[in-house]
Amino acid sequence: MSAFSLVDGVLHAESVSLELIAKKFGTPCYVYSRAAIESAYREYEAACAGRNALVCYAVKANSNLAVLNLLARMGAGFDIVSAGELARVTAAGGSPEKILFSGVGKTETEMRQGLAAGILCFNVESEAELERLNSVALSMGKQAPISLRVNPDVDAQTHPYISTGLKENKFGVAYDDAPRLYRKAAGLPGLRVTGIDFHIGSQLTQIAPFEAALDKILEFVDMLDATGLPLQHFDLGGGLGIRYSDETPPAISQYLNSLFARLGSRRQRVLLEPGRSIVGNAGILLTRIEYLKTGGDRNFAIVDAAMNDLMRPALYEAWHDVVPVAPRDGVERSYDVVGPVCESGDWLARNRRLSVASGDLLAVLSAGAYGMSMSSNYNSRPRAAEVMVDGEKVHLARARETVDDLYSAERIMP
Ligand code: LLP
Repeated sequence: MSAFSLVDGVLHAESVSLELIAKKFGTPCYVYSRAAIESAYREYEAACAGRNALVCYAVKANSNLAVLNLLARMGAGFDIVSAGELARVTAAGGSPEKILFSGVGKTETEMRQGLAAGILCFNVESEAELERLNSVALSMGKQAPISLRVNPDVDAQTHPYISTGLKENKFGVAYDDAPRLYRKAAGLPGLRVTGIDFHIGSQLTQIAPFEAALDKILEFVDMLDATGLPLQHFDLGGGLGIRYSDETPPAISQYLNSLFARLGSRRQRVLLEPGRSIVGNAGILLTRIEYLKTGGDRNFAIVDAAMNDLMRPALYEAWHDVVPVAPRDGVERSYDVVGPVCESGDWLARNRRLSVASGDLLAVLSAGAYGMSMSSNYNSRPRAAEVMVDGEKVHLARARETVDDLYSAERIMP
């Protein structure tokens, strides 16, 4: 069930009218449903019942403190990729001992901060990183818990920009090189080898690539085990897709059951790093039509949200459904929904049949993941407000940025 539905002809987030939210907080505005976030997380939890498993939400999908705090309260762990995300998780009440640190370019400072916080594991992505982490840990008199991100060379069958598990991608260590690197890691005194991880891409709508990747990883794990290097955890990454239009991704339970079946009687702890499938359909971007421009080759609905607010269409030609908040009868026209930014790539949706007038509110759906977290200030546009709805209650999760915020760190030369 969607958290966003029509009530008396007006789109609501749970029990709150989006018209009311626009009036109170202005537009553009991201609106999230607490119930939707919690229910997706619970689906993960339910599928993991009876297993030693930890769901480490991928912070990059939506890093608002209110979102992180809800998940922390439910017991989630977190997958981070920067010191900034580490600070966010801590500020939101997340436990360091449930944090995974992923990413190909961890700096020495980030390693120090992760070690000082006592995080669960560093997902190491190269030999050079292994060596750096070893020396940083030794300099602090610590041992860093590590996993190697092994690239299984599997085609995730998703958009090339969000496919990460092929040989040509920058992520992880090569499958064939992994045995040597594990042996090397085991011999480095500043490291404690605890697990293995893989992540082959994002917005996957089929289970087969996950299965193929896990099979290859398990084959490798067994080989490692036979050479006297047993692992304590398997991190199966994230990547499960959501429905934006007519995709038919497997349910969370279906996806996990099929992976868990492959683990058979293995008792190692399982870690997961889902992002989009927890928050993607729990959020929308609320925007108002400033102008309609009709009569030329194309019709444009020029709205007050832009590529700086939601970059996915410009970056991946991603498709997001766009619906009127208060649908009206009348002639439908085909519109390109575009923002005010000075780029032809600044569109949110193209060729959509809509019956609208200027001043109308539109909701860009499925915008809870990689929406606000990828936003920018391009064209000196303050970032949107973020609101979390909880039943009939509305919580301002992030105030709209002000124009002063935009250049308060800038200095004119004397
Ligand atoms: N773990 C790692 C190591 C990752 O790199 C990612 C996402 C995740 C977990 C979470 O993946 P998810 O469950 O959200 O698919 N900006 C793109 C998506 C980039 C994904 C980057 N990595 C988009 O808007 O589609």
